[in-house]
Amino acid sequence: MDVGIIGGTGPLGRGLALRLAVAGHRVLLGSRDAERAEGICAELRDVAGGALAAGSLQGVANVEAAAPDMVVLATPWDGALATVAELVGTLRGSTVVSVGNALVRHGREAHAVVPPRGSVAAMVQAALPESHVVAAGQHLPARSLTDLGQPFAADVLVCADDADARQAVCDLLCTVDGLRPVSAGSLAQAAAIEAFTAVLVTVNMGHRAHSTLRLAGMTLPAHGDGRPAGTEDAAGKAASSAGGGSRP
Ligand SMILES: NC(=O)c1ccc[n+]([C@@H]2O[C@H](COP(=O)([O-])OP(=O)(O)OC[C@H]3O[C@@H](n4cnc5c(N)ncnc54)[C@H](OP(=O)(O)O)[C@@H]3O)[C@@H](O)[C@H]2O)c1
Repeated sequence: MDVGIIGGTGPLGRGLALRLAVAGHRVLLGSRDAERAEGICAELRDVAGGALAAGSLQGVANVEAAAPDMVVLATPWDGALATVAELVGTLRGSTVVSVGNALVRHGREAHAVVPPRGSVAAMVQAALPESHVVAAGQHLPARSLTDLGQPFAADVLVCADDADARQAVCDLLCTVDGLRPVSAGSLAQAAAIEAFTAVLVTVNMGHRAHSTLRLAGMTLPAHGDGRPAGTEDAAGKAASSAGGGSRP
């Protein structure tokens, strides 16, 4: 699959680009400066040490990275709106994965701040009404993604209002070694998912760690989205019994 990454030159964008390219996807790593993007891609090809197919990782301008049907928005959260405002037409009809967390640093802690509309993902969805915004990847430690030599296992909470887009992102994440997507409902869940990142970052700073999320107590296929075929009702009952109301 072709995947674009807008703002792909930062730690998270690089890590995702590398893992997706290793998984066999064609990644367009975007930047405000295409030359800078190509330089980052050259570094990532070195990291991969020949494991990438020719042409699987290309550095491009953000507008080119916005062209595929699957696009990751990996700018800092406070640059997201201005970035997508210039790409509304290009992103129309596409699935846009919002990885952003609205955090501020207070000494040895990260604190969550509330962006307009309650989450970065909802803010981006409002700016891109004709795109399908999916929140995912907020808890991934960028450094672990770029370290191909270390074993890596992470659950990735995936939420969206469009069920097909959410499933498409789960399917994409399933192809990446070590990632286990977990369908987590509608985009309303993004506020809690993003805010929890502040706790995770604080824990990691305090413990000098790169921990991520791993859910206990639920049986998932090795590479699954937590919603095995034919279990729609079971998922709804689980939500009710946890006080979560009806399934989105
Ligand atoms: N770092 C992590 O471990 C991590 C983990 C999970 C989620 N996230 C989220 O992922 C996103 C990216 O994180 P990151 O640490 O990779 O971010 P970053 O390095 O601060 O930014 C990523 C790239 O965005 C571009 N950029 C910077 N400021 C911009 C602006 N005002 N407008 C448009 N583009 C701008 C820059 O690329 P160019 O200069 O090349 O255009 C930069 O290299 C953030 O929203 C973060 O909350 C990060």
